Amino acid sequence: MPVSIKSAREIELMTEAGRILAIVHEEMEKALHPGMTTLDINKIGEEVIRSYGCTPSFLNYNGYPASICVSVNDEVVHGIPTDKRVLKDGDIVGLDAGLIYKGYHSDAARTHGIGETSKEASRLIEVTRECFFEGIKYAREGNHLFEISAAIGRYAEEHGYGVVRDLCGHGIGMKLHEAPEIPNYEMGRKGMKLRAGMTLAIEPMINIGDYRVKWLDDDWTVVTSDGSLSAHYENTVLITEGEPKLLTL
Ligand code: MF3
Ligand code: CO
Repeated sequence: MPVSIKSAREIELMTEAGRILAIVHEEMEKALHPGMTTLDINKIGEEVIRSYGCTPSFLNYNGYPASICVSVNDEVVHGIPTDKRVLKDGDIVGLDAGLIYKGYHSDAARTHGIGETSKEASRLIEVTRECFFEGIKYAREGNHLFEISAAIGRYAEEHGYGVVRDLCGHGIGMKLHEAPEIPNYEMGRKGMKLRAGMTLAIEPMINIGDYRVKWLDDDWTVVTSDGSLSAHYENTVLITEGEPKLLTL
């Protein structure tokens, strides 16, 4: 699949899709508190998305049954919201959301602590965020895609963390998942050349322990194999000739 280069008009629409998604994340974060369920978070996220006339892109995507992915503690990504899962003080929760605005997608994830989290958990959340920012140092026209991947992986490993390999970032635009795939680890080759107008969802998924993950029987929830905590951080990024634009921040 070729990687699409967005026109000025498309970039305008994706910028608005990203701006709205940033608000969705702010609203979900504000609402977080111990005692709420993961389904409560889904409800809030979906309501905010719809209040801007947008469509939640995850809902029914390959049969996914909710609008927001809510992944708690050792859940890496794609946790399914449920009224049975109550958040408690010290949990960490990954919120992943996507929306469609006038035919264009945005996709972003954040990991938050609930109440007081352990030093280890807070550090994981912070380093995962930093992994993203290490990666995008290389996200500009003329550089190569896997320079981003290598920078993310290197930074996580320097901190002793495991980098999830079974899931990747991706191009994004008229579809949620477009070419190219964006791994979060060193590929041993350069990958494609980046060009202005590419839009990429860059999303490190980092474990305190081993990099390995497994899928639960619900066919969605990805958890760490060793039960260690995992964090996720993602933004939709526009490649330019200079600094990348973070559309969802
Ligand atoms: N943000 C995720 C991704 O980039 C979530 C999509 S999975 C879904 O792949 F099924 F929930 F939509
Ligand atoms: Co994504």
